[in-house]
Amino acid sequence: MTILVTGGAGFIGSNFVLDWLRSSDEPVVNLDALTYAGNLENLASLKDDARHVFVQGDICDRALVDQLLATHRPRAIVHFAAESHVDRSIHGPGAFMRTNVEGTFTLLEAARAYWGTLEGETRDGFRFHHVSTDEVYGSLQPQDPPFSETNPYEPNSPYSASKAASDHLVRAWHHTYGLPVVTTNCSNNYGPYHFPEKLIPLMIVNALAGKPLPVYGDGQQIRDWLYVTDHCSGIRAVLAGGRVGETYNIGGWNEKANIDIVRTVCALLDELRPDAAGPYSRLITYVKDRPGHDRRYAIDARKIERELGWRPAETFETGIRKTVQWYLSNEDWVARVQSGAYRDWVSKQYGAGQTN
Ligand code: NAD
Ligand code: TYD
Repeated sequence: MTILVTGGAGFIGSNFVLDWLRSSDEPVVNLDALTYAGNLENLASLKDDARHVFVQGDICDRALVDQLLATHRPRAIVHFAAESHVDRSIHGPGAFMRTNVEGTFTLLEAARAYWGTLEGETRDGFRFHHVSTDEVYGSLQPQDPPFSETNPYEPNSPYSASKAASDHLVRAWHHTYGLPVVTTNCSNNYGPYHFPEKLIPLMIVNALAGKPLPVYGDGQQIRDWLYVTDHCSGIRAVLAGGRVGETYNIGGWNEKANIDIVRTVCALLDELRPDAAGPYSRLITYVKDRPGHDRRYAIDARKIERELGWRPAETFETGIRKTVQWYLSNEDWVARVQSGAYRDWVSKQYGAGQTN
């Protein structure tokens, strides 16, 4: 048995591949285009591991996807590949429409054709697992209940609109063609290998470099924070036992205002890497708000707990400490991401070709 993962060199995808191969011997075929967000260095520990087959390629490339499905005959596709950064989607939405909408469409069509060739238990057991976001539900007022799976979709950014579109395609491929899909909508992830353009890693690396910590608007926007390995275990639970055609919200039960996140990061750095120049909070700088900035996201994760017994293992306190410690212990990784040298990793580690 094998699974096909898309976007497995990104933040969550690489954590998922590492986590999967720590807990199972089932091989992973990892299809990733290695955009700026893909970093094979995250998977360096798997370099000589035959259970991991890396393929550099685009999910919009139907012929390639067909060929991978025919060759490896996976029992499931776990689809992470996406453009994922809201700020980038505001400046250049085109790439988001292409990868998130057209790419998901291409994968669904390839999966449908492949699934049509399967029979018996293999056909019944096949899953297309779509990884999505809570941002499709829009923005909450302070007193609103958290998002449940039945919330209407009200995406507000080009990113969330493209993910909402992909969720609708996945739903339609199930209803119309019977493709056995499951979708998970999770909250903001954090943890190791997080690209330092997102809030938490950006604050850590900027603080260590003595640079300003840019807080958008009044810093009172609220997100729910999910430690990335908890997300991975949630996906495994849904893949193993989720009901076909259903969606499951995955959250950390950790609603925090951005400014409190930044202050927590500063306090941990003050403890673990004190700066002679003074507390890191001196670097906090309020900057112009993000256009259309969603005020609050919150996840009601009771369905996945009720049906599959999943709950996050980390509290925010344990998860954020591990995260800050990881960045302090991996300054070479940060330096190579910041210098762009991480993009040479494929040729250095794998030669001119790309697969394992
Ligand atoms: P990421 O940006 O870190 O990684 C995305 C990966 O997809 C990269 O490795 C990139 O090279 C690859 N990719 C991009 N376009 C591709 C294409 N056309 N073909 C093949 N590969 C391509 O993203 P992430 O934070 O790891 O997010 C993974 C998934 O989880 C996404 O679908 C995202 O929408 C979803 N999600 C993320 C978060 C979060 O907090 N990071 C929260 C909710 C949902
Ligand atoms: P981000 O990590 O980009 O995730 P998302 O927008 O998908 O939730 O941002 C998290 C929150 O932090 C969001 O409310 C925007 C805010 N933010 C800042 O205040 N400053 C920053 O430099 C960044 C990157 C984000």
